[in-house]
Amino acid sequence: MTIPYPSLSTALIDHCRSQFPALARRQGSHEAIYLDGPAGTQVPQSVIDAISHYYSTCNANHGGLFATSRESDTLVAEAHRALADFVGSDDPDEVIFGANMTTITFAFSRALSQQWHSGDNIVVTQLDHDANVSTWALASTPPTVLWMSPISKAK
Ligand SMILES: Cc1ncc(COP(=O)(O)O)c(C=O)c1O
Repeated sequence: MTIPYPSLSTALIDHCRSQFPALARRQGSHEAIYLDGPAGTQVPQSVIDAISHYYSTCNANHGGLFATSRESDTLVAEAHRALADFVGSDDPDEVIFGANMTTITFAFSRALSQQWHSGDNIVVTQLDHDANVSTWALASTPPTVLWMSPISKAK
């Protein structure tokens, strides 16, 4: 099966690459090439600027009655709305931000495990990153079974 993909012009690729400062990094005389983003996804300059702006201007606790807290809450609410829009949700409250995928999955699996019953199965696959296997295994107290679904080539 051939999966169609849009053809990208060199100019568009160069434009996209130029937004990621890390892609300009050199290792000796070679350009650095990132094949995958584990342990630190590269981010575009706009994200670096937004984070820098937040810490420079309104980093504060949530729900305070002071200016930086109100500005921070406004920014967070805008981020929830933007992400809800991005994933096609009408409800920004369905969006939860957390420290990282592993931490969130630990919390999520522990919460769900309160509802598990004897005979329930957790299904993960060989394609899953360990962060989506260990988290479920640690939340899984017997008799719940962690099942590694085998992956085979499509026919
Ligand atoms: C494919 C993949 N999934 C999940 C994770 C875990 O991500 P996080 O660092 O957000 O916990 C990583 C981290 O290396 C990863 O490479």
